Amino acid sequence: MSFFFDIVEGMPQGKALDLAEACPLWNSSSTIKGTNNYSDTVGSDIVVITAGFPRKPGMSRNDLLHANANVIKETCIEVANASPNAIIIVVTNPIDVMAQLAWKTTEFSCKRVMGMGGILDASRLTAFLSWELNVSPEDVEALVFGGHGDDMVPLPRFTTVKGIPVTELLPKKKIELLIERTRNGGAEIVSLLKSGSAYYAPAASTFQMIKAVLLDEKRMLPCTAYLNGEYGVKDLYMGVPVILGKEGVEKVTEVKLTKEEKAQFRKSCASVKKLIKRLLI
Ligand code: LAC
Repeated sequence: MSFFFDIVEGMPQGKALDLAEACPLWNSSSTIKGTNNYSDTVGSDIVVITAGFPRKPGMSRNDLLHANANVIKETCIEVANASPNAIIIVVTNPIDVMAQLAWKTTEFSCKRVMGMGGILDASRLTAFLSWELNVSPEDVEALVFGGHGDDMVPLPRFTTVKGIPVTELLPKKKIELLIERTRNGGAEIVSLLKSGSAYYAPAASTFQMIKAVLLDEKRMLPCTAYLNGEYGVKDLYMGVPVILGKEGVEKVTEVKLTKEEKAQFRKSCASVKKLIKRLLI
């Protein structure tokens, strides 16, 4: 059973009904309902939080900081009351800061609070590479570290096409251009839409996380996770490869970064820390 929750009356009910009416076409027997009451969602296994304000053209993800922090706090208090054993996936921007705030507010184990970011960024880089190389995205494997912001750290060294490092297939300059497009991936869509932000790719990325947890898949996926000393970082949510299974973030995977990669990762950590300071959390 799945619930759509929103404070706007009728909206979650309408969306849920629309999706429920698609279920027969997908041979799905899922039950989907919309509600404006947290009491309906009691005992949820997984809660995906997308609540908040979307970006407008010209805004960075960070411009949403204060407005969305209030929404996240209020939402997390209700979620923790209704579903104290839930695993929480935060999608609201700026994701890394909001994940940290969700963890602090709910006081859940850090294993059970995570953010979506790296999967989306990696999927964007995968798409751009597959178009450039005219190869199926199925054969491209991209990895993006760091915060889901302008300082994210796409790693060409760990990005491959059927095991071949992309650095062997494309000139450095071209790779840099695709990395830049990945960093601006969200903004590119916002500037086209004028109102609202990316929807399908963030939803598909979140779905991958939900599936990994629900089916205990032990997938290794780049997610926003709590670092407690890993990568030399303490008490900070950051995008890193993790193992996702039924317990949530079951392990943070550590790899040795080069000097340059480390510097980029630190810069991304510093940007997220700066925002956390502004929120006084
Ligand atoms: C994006 C939003 C989810 O990158 O941050 O489209």
